[in-house]
Amino acid sequence: MAAATPTSFTDKIVVSDEVAEFSPAVIDEMKSHLAKYPADRTRSALIPLLFVVQRERGGWIDNPGVNFLAKFLNLEVTDVWETATFYSMFNLRPVGRHHIQICKTLSCKIMGEPDITDHICSKLGIHPGETTEDGKFTVSLVECLGSCGTAPMMQIGFDYHEDLTIEKVDKILDDCK
Ligand code: FES
Repeated sequence: MAAATPTSFTDKIVVSDEVAEFSPAVIDEMKSHLAKYPADRTRSALIPLLFVVQRERGGWIDNPGVNFLAKFLNLEVTDVWETATFYSMFNLRPVGRHHIQICKTLSCKIMGEPDITDHICSKLGIHPGETTEDGKFTVSLVECLGSCGTAPMMQIGFDYHEDLTIEKVDKILDDCK
């Protein structure tokens, strides 16, 4: 049988035994998340802790960060990767200062997503999945972000931008510092 071809995500992951270190304040923050869950259900804290790791590791989930969480939660490294690779809100490679996630699912698609995506990408000079040379913008196409009634829409950082038009997109990008 032919070997599986790595995906564009997994072939970017550098596997190492390095374990990330975090400040006492960050560890306390992680413990406060952990305290919200039963002692025998520490795995349930994985998603909030991945958000903390992503923030502290420069906007993405790297191998040392995953190794840390596996130790911190007494899980297998693969348990952490399973969750980190499932959700599009966790970045598996470095992203730009403004991470533009454009919804490509049905409602957004039929309401104009392809034109919005083409416009953003040609304006920034990149393709979906790429980051501008100055590190300012990354464009990703993602599945439904739960805002189908205001399609087409995109998320930048934690902010939703809805009922998009080309003019609206231009203003939003211009306002990104
Ligand atoms: S289809 Fe785009 S937000 Fe649901």
